[in-house]
Amino acid sequence: MTGQGSIAYRLLHEDDIDDVIELLSEHYVTRESTSKCLSMTKEEILEYSDEIAREAIPQGLSLGAFDDVTNKLCGVTFGEYDLYKKPRIKDDNRTPIKIQYLQRLYEMFESISRVELGITNLLLADVLVVSPQYSNRGIGTQLMIRQADLLADLGFNYLLSFITSERALAIHTRLGSKCIKKVDIRTYRDPCTGVAAFKHADLKDNCIQVMCTYLQSLQSIKSKA
Ligand SMILES: CC(C)(COP(=O)(O)OP(=O)(O)OC[C@H]1O[C@@H](n2cnc3c(N)ncnc32)[C@H](O)[C@@H]1OP(=O)(O)O)[C@@H](O)C(=O)NCCC(=O)NCCS
Repeated sequence: MTGQGSIAYRLLHEDDIDDVIELLSEHYVTRESTSKCLSMTKEEILEYSDEIAREAIPQGLSLGAFDDVTNKLCGVTFGEYDLYKKPRIKDDNRTPIKIQYLQRLYEMFESISRVELGITNLLLADVLVVSPQYSNRGIGTQLMIRQADLLADLGFNYLLSFITSERALAIHTRLGSKCIKKVDIRTYRDPCTGVAAFKHADLKDNCIQVMCTYLQSLQSIKSKA
């Protein structure tokens, strides 16, 4: 039966990109609150999944969870350098407006850490997904723990996540992450169009929470796992 075998975890590389795009388009963009509320078409879902996977995976800090029996990818967490220069095309008419809304929302969140909070030497982990037939087995939790472990070994101090799901919030909180800022999505306006694009997003207290994990306290994180 699917999802009952053991799970293997490893870093993702460029050969995994097609599988990551498939997982994201089937189980992330369709379920994660800020993308779900935009009611994207199938093409837009694929385009957005393609874009975020191709941005993150080549950076070499994203982890995948694989079913040991089928070798199928069943979960991912993305790690992205804060100062990575993203190949984004601004004001490009070919990028669907809903994808632009998402790009600009998360660009705003990425700048909060540096500009507003003055945190440097950090890694962003803003995509976490586990396919539904594998949920509630601790895979999301393991992905986060293993990523934090890896990043601490690489010398990063902070892991920052922009949380839009109660389940992800439960995982982060249980592992010691602290909420350092909340943004009420009802008051957020897209900076280019002024549209309140995410006002119908299903979010706890209508907020996206910026959660920060201090990686040097990792030993206490591990002991709680
Ligand atoms: C969030 C997500 C990755 C969790 O994956 P998962 O592998 O099922 O997570 P885990 O099994 O490690 O842990 C889930 C925990 O959340 C808790 N939880 C479950 N339902 C919950 C709810 N409705 N509200 C709050 N917490 C809940 C459980 O207590 C569980 O903890 P446990 O290990 O003590 O049972 C998965 O649900 C997902 O892919 N969601 C869609 C994409 C998304 O929204 N990603 C997060 C964006 S910030």
